[in-house]
Amino acid sequence: MPIPQAPLDVQQRASLREHNTFGLPAVARTLVRIKSEADVRRVVDHPEYGVAPKLVLGGGSNLVLTRDVEAVVLKVEIPGIRLLREDADAWIVEAGAGESWHGVVAWAIAQGIPGLENLALIPGAVGAAPVQNIGAYGVELQDRFESLDAVDLVTGRTVTLDAPMCRFGYRDSVFKQALAGKSVIVRVRLRCPRPWQPVIGYLDLERKVAETGITAPDARTVFDWVCAIRRAKLPDPAVIGNAGSFFKNPVVTAEQCRDIIGRDPEVVHYPLPDGSVKLAAGWLIDACGWKGKSVGRAGVYERQALVLVNRGGASGAEVVTLARAIQESVYGRFGIRLEPEPVIV
Ligand code: EPU
Repeated sequence: MPIPQAPLDVQQRASLREHNTFGLPAVARTLVRIKSEADVRRVVDHPEYGVAPKLVLGGGSNLVLTRDVEAVVLKVEIPGIRLLREDADAWIVEAGAGESWHGVVAWAIAQGIPGLENLALIPGAVGAAPVQNIGAYGVELQDRFESLDAVDLVTGRTVTLDAPMCRFGYRDSVFKQALAGKSVIVRVRLRCPRPWQPVIGYLDLERKVAETGITAPDARTVFDWVCAIRRAKLPDPAVIGNAGSFFKNPVVTAEQCRDIIGRDPEVVHYPLPDGSVKLAAGWLIDACGWKGKSVGRAGVYERQALVLVNRGGASGAEVVTLARAIQESVYGRFGIRLEPEPVIV
């Protein structure tokens, strides 16, 4: 006899306001809570949900909801964190896609596993981390990535992807491109290399070294520094709705950059190994005078122009209107098209 399965946890007409860090109002026609890998297969085998379009939701930290969602929303809540292996050259940590990213970073630090500390306090779920290859203070997810398991939303099969298969780029991966909406990440394995070395070359961290005189910080200290830096300049989504950086830092040719420097010598720029140059989008937006400004109930954060915030009761449309206005003024002054980082639905 087949073993009876727990039914899927389905909610009709579910508010998504609590499920996106911007706090934007939208209703999902159907919301399914995915608590295990088997739940994904149940969705695939379901006569109605199996064939319906789907939206996979992690912590909702990289999302702008501009309307109600007709697609079946899969809210990934798969738990579990463990040290999978301890090799001579790395610790391998495995986490369920529904765990909070910061929770995993804090857990690793508490276990004495260093390597994730630069990525502390990034909002969102573990399953979303590879999707946009999260990064901060000199470390990107791809630098600490071992592999992940994802369930194909058509076949119901679980596949394991290594780093090349994920095609990581700057805030980008195969899950934003060819595999967008086609699979659900259920588990992620992180690789923390040993011997550990602190990554403290980022300007804000160099300042901490200078301020404290600690030139060889341990992982816990770097973790505390990163938390302090982020708290000082980024709004806590639990208090002020936001989705982190709203735009990617644009990459331009050396020639374009020289042009901009000619007119604006102060422009913050980082030369890349291939000869192109990354510009600080926050600086460009700030230079156009947007810091602290609002359009309707959406605004530009006072302490970091790259972050758009919900000043209370904003709609997704207001956020998008503000974003367009910023794009236009940056284009008008610098000839650069800023590309949004979050997914706009
Ligand atoms: N700047 C200004 N005015 C502003 C904002 C920034 O002049 O209003 C200048 C800063 O002074 C600095 C430069 O622009 O010289 C860059 O700013 P910052 O160091 O704060 O980093 P960022 O480019 O704004 C990126 C990531 C963040 C990540 C930080 C730290 C992107 C789009 N953003 O921000 O990631 O935490 O570096 O590594 O790559 C995110 O993706 O959601 C995110 C927060």
